[in-house]
Amino acid sequence: VPERVDLLSEIARLKKEKNAIIMAHYYQINDIQNIADFVGDSLALAQQAAKTNADIILLAGVYFMGETAKILCPDKKVLVPDLNAGCSLADSCPADDFFEFKKKYPNHIVVTYVNTTAEVKALSDIVVTSTNAVGIINSIPKDQPILFGPDRNLGNYLKSLTGRDMVIWDGACHVHEQFSIERIVALKKENPDAKIIAHPECKKPLLVLADFIGSTSALLKYTIESEDKKFIVATESGILHQMIKASPEKTFIPAPPSDATCGCNDCEFMKLNTLKKVYLALKHEFPEVLVDEELRLKALKPIEKMLDISS
Ligand code: 13P
Ligand code: SF4
Repeated sequence: VPERVDLLSEIARLKKEKNAIIMAHYYQINDIQNIADFVGDSLALAQQAAKTNADIILLAGVYFMGETAKILCPDKKVLVPDLNAGCSLADSCPADDFFEFKKKYPNHIVVTYVNTTAEVKALSDIVVTSTNAVGIINSIPKDQPILFGPDRNLGNYLKSLTGRDMVIWDGACHVHEQFSIERIVALKKENPDAKIIAHPECKKPLLVLADFIGSTSALLKYTIESEDKKFIVATESGILHQMIKASPEKTFIPAPPSDATCGCNDCEFMKLNTLKKVYLALKHEFPEVLVDEELRLKALKPIEKMLDISS
């Protein structure tokens, strides 16, 4: 990209010219959140994709989010800034292995978190996000056993909250598993007035310690509505941008990871996306997300079920 290209005005021009919409997850860098037409959590991104009138959706997030948008909108062109923006949680659940796992539990209803590949969604009865998981699990008849995947932390949290009979796949997100309990406890001692808030992908000891547990949008809402003025935030650091924007008078402390030298809670996949890549993707309409039609139709059913229940 020549230095003289003004990325912000070029992105705005291309968006208008191509009737494109930019949708960004809360974990994107601030610059991308600032130019996005819509910023949200995984559920909101799927809901927004399902109802947009744009011809092109540029999904600034990780690949499964673009794939979900394409599954919902086969006639639209779905672009992502970088095809390498994967997800360690989705990768922890290969479809072939999940297929074999599922075979062992023929009487179970298969509930999967949206952080999966289209192939795993195609093996599922219903998809959930961290925003709607409790409600969806409670809507399943009480005597129906559940197979949940791929996140073991979210799965165990849901099991304790709903009291349901659940078999859980052993997957996890490397970002949410890295937080240090010792360092968080020390931080809390230094800041006794701070509330610890955590995403349910975090490990159990941290969830036990947390004052509030929720999806990215639930955490944001909590910080806005709470009377408290200080928060230790145990999730990916990108969400702090919206928290600070909404409550500039409050203090937000990123929860420290175990590796003291790292000092950050970035998802390196989410952070692969840059403004320059957004510009290039819009300009060249590449990389494009494509999903085989037979697979798409199979993956669509459990996503539509989720959206019906969540609407
Ligand atoms: P949300 O569903 O809360 O947006 O989380 C998505 C995600 O990737 C968490 O790591
Ligand atoms: Fe996947 Fe974890 Fe990154 Fe979320 S934070 S996109 S679960 S790797």
